[in-house]
This record gives sequence, C-alpha cells and structure tokens, in this order.
Amino acid sequence: MIGTMKIREAIPSDAEKLLNHLQKIALETGYMTMGSEGPGQTIEAKQKEIKLILESDVTVLLVALDKEEIIGIAEVHGNKSPKLKHIGDISISIAKDYWGIGLGTMMMEQLIEWANSPSSHLKRVELTVQARNERARHLYEKMGFKLEAIMPRGVKDEDDYLDVCLMSMMIGEI
Ligand SMILES: CC(C)(COP(=O)(O)OP(=O)(O)OC[C@H]1O[C@@H](n2cnc3c(N)ncnc32)[C@H](O)[C@@H]1OP(=O)(O)O)[C@@H](O)C(=O)NCCC(=O)NCCS
Repeated sequence: MIGTMKIREAIPSDAEKLLNHLQKIALETGYMTMGSEGPGQTIEAKQKEIKLILESDVTVLLVALDKEEIIGIAEVHGNKSPKLKHIGDISISIAKDYWGIGLGTMMMEQLIEWANSPSSHLKRVELTVQARNERARHLYEKMGFKLEAIMPRGVKDEDDYLDVCLMSMMIGEI
C-alpha cells in the first residue's frame, strides 16, 4: 500500500481496465514491445485468460490500483511445455504519472516473492528490456537480475533498430 494505492492479483472483472491500461502505456512510452496497434485482445478473451491465470502455477498477474483505476500491471508468465515449465517471463508497466514513487519496486518484489513461493515451480525468471531504458534496467539490477546478453537490433522503434538486453535471475536450488 502507498497512500490510496494497492497491489493485488488481477480478477476477470479487471479485463477491460487492464486492456485500456496496456493501450495507454503503449502510447505513453516507446519502451514497450506493443505499439499503437495495442493489445489486440477482446475483453472476453482477457477475462478467460485471467481466469486461467488464477488457476495457474506458472503464471501470476498483479495489478496496482489507485482507488478503482488500474495504474500498473506486472506479470510472471510461465510456459506449459514440460521442458520450459521452470522458466517465467517477467513484464511490468506502470502509468507515467506514477513513476518514481517505488511502485515498480513493490510490484517486482511481489513477483519475485511469488516465484520463490511453494505455489510456483519456477527455477528461472527472465525478461528483455531496451538497452536505453535505464530506469527499468536499474530496477531489475536492484532486484538481482543479471545481464546475460545484448541483442543488437532486438526491436525496431519507428526507423531505429535498438539494442535489447536479456536479463535473468535464478530461483532457488536445483
Ligand atoms: C520501469 C518502471 C516499471 C519503473 O517503475 P517505477 O515505479 O518508476 O520504479 P521505482 O520508483 O520503484 O524505482 C525506479 C528506480 O529507478 C531509478 N531511476 C529513475 N530514473 C533513472 C534513470 N534515468 N537511470 C537510472 N535509474 C533511474 C530510481 O532512482 C529508482 O531507483 P532506487 O529505488 O534505487 O532509488 C516504470 O517506469 C514503467 O512502467 N515504465 C514504462 C514501461 C517499461 O519501461 N516497462 C519495462 C519494460 S521491460
């Protein structure tokens, strides 16, 4: 909790607000892989996805709310394939008005806590981040993520091909 803000797991009735948030963030920053084309998902499809996520042991979806407004989303997205089930992909997006007040840190802490909990089977979490996104890279390094590779031309923004960093963190012992 920060003031009127709270973080909780997403529920199916969040679907519409969640899609609106993603669309807004995609336009607010050039740091997301998604651009002005938006999430391209219907509200019904998102509701179904959230229902499945609530039952999943490899995926968790958190929302940050200020009163009833969604202001942040953070996810560990797992894989069904047995050979990849130990790997979770992390993504996070916070509305620009709420940057720099510790919300990203709190959401990442909760994702990592979940990844380390008995309800997850994860052994590795990974993410990609544009090399120029210094704020996000600082946050990930602070949380313990290590840089594994820099992928030249990892993303195209307008006419520019940009470097993308692959970062990871191991979870527990094997
Ligand atoms: C990246 C993002 C999640 C960070 O969330 P946030 O709530 O602003 O993060 P916090 O306030 O918890 O922490 C930000 C940290 O970055 C630091 N920081 C801010 N600007 C920085 C910069 N230009 N360079 C380096 N560090 C910076 C802050 O000092 C703070 O570090 P500290 O806790 O050690 O003092 C958020 O800005 C966001 O959603 N951005 C748009 C989408 C995005 O980039 N997502 C990640 C894509 S991989």
